[in-house]
Amino acid sequence: MLAAFVSTPAPEDPLSVLEVGDRPEPEVPEGWTTVQVKAVSLNHHDLSSLKGIGLPQERMPMILGTDAAGLDEDGNEVVVHGVVPSPGWTGDETLDPKRTLFSELHQGTMAEKVAVPKRNLLPKPAGLSFAEAACLPTAWLTAYRMLFVRSGLRPGQTVLVQGASGGVATALIVLGRAAGYRMWVTGRSEEKRAAALALGADQAFETGARLPERVDGVMETVGEVTWSHSIKSLKPGGVVVISGATTGFNPGAELNRIFFTQLSVIGSTMGTRAELEALIQMCSVTGVRPLIDVELPLTEAREGFERMLEGRTAGKIVFTP
Ligand SMILES: NC(=O)c1ccc[n+]([C@@H]2O[C@H](COP(=O)([O-])OP(=O)(O)OC[C@H]3O[C@@H](n4cnc5c(N)ncnc54)[C@H](OP(=O)(O)O)[C@@H]3O)[C@@H](O)[C@H]2O)c1
Repeated sequence: MLAAFVSTPAPEDPLSVLEVGDRPEPEVPEGWTTVQVKAVSLNHHDLSSLKGIGLPQERMPMILGTDAAGLDEDGNEVVVHGVVPSPGWTGDETLDPKRTLFSELHQGTMAEKVAVPKRNLLPKPAGLSFAEAACLPTAWLTAYRMLFVRSGLRPGQTVLVQGASGGVATALIVLGRAAGYRMWVTGRSEEKRAAALALGADQAFETGARLPERVDGVMETVGEVTWSHSIKSLKPGGVVVISGATTGFNPGAELNRIFFTQLSVIGSTMGTRAELEALIQMCSVTGVRPLIDVELPLTEAREGFERMLEGRTAGKIVFTP
């Protein structure tokens, strides 16, 4: 079957080891089933896999991809929850220290077919396209958990999103706006800031700009480049929720500000199956949909990876096998 995969890690030049070609059909363990993949979205996790981060050589060749939408074995339209808990785990799957995402231990979703635990399947509403549904399990679910589960922020409060055009950033803008938060964003170009305003952001600022007033919460995925600004932008008692660090993991810590103004720093990662179910429901009830930058055939996956690596994003990048 057709798949995008990696056979050897390349920490310095990840695109040099991206392969799109033939892989064997997946093996199906007890309690698992298969999904015929109709759409899969690209995430930084896939770039990390090419670099060998979280994916040692001995587990390769590995098919990439953490999220997908498609058809189950009975032909039902489904969305695949990307977090695979260890056998016997109960409760919040994201807190299982032995949890994995597809493409870490088990073959990923960037293929014509993927094997998944039966419990990871959720019904896809007819009103969501396969491409839209494929954006939900990683970037959109991460945004949902950051904002609605982890932040403790309430509608009506002001939330700053670092980054304007990324998969998680656009999800935060759309979801926050739909839920009644005042969403502010920072973006690296005039074009990206204008797109964020069109998407529902209340105000858009240049990266690092001084804000007209301090905010109640900041949503961080950029990391080293924006961390200091995030901390300085918070009101006393404010909260920063972090789920990624695209530009590096070692920012100035701002420890004095954190304790003196009594800030909360909260980590967040992916989301539970129940939260994905609620996110799908939120899309149905409010009519919000993922912003898709480009939809490419899987054979042209390289173009999508290049866009993400170079920061040429305007929402989610989707592949169709
Ligand atoms: N923990 C989890 O479960 C989880 C899940 C999903 C993603 N993540 C992480 O979250 C991060 C973002 O993911 P994504 O899918 O949204 O990626 P993406 O679509 O590539 O977006 C990257 C975002 O980062 C911003 N950015 C990148 N470099 C920047 C720089 N030098 N200065 C300022 N802003 C910069 C971009 O801002 P502009 O709009 O201004 O270009 C853009 O909004 C990644 O590190 C990813 O690994 C974590």
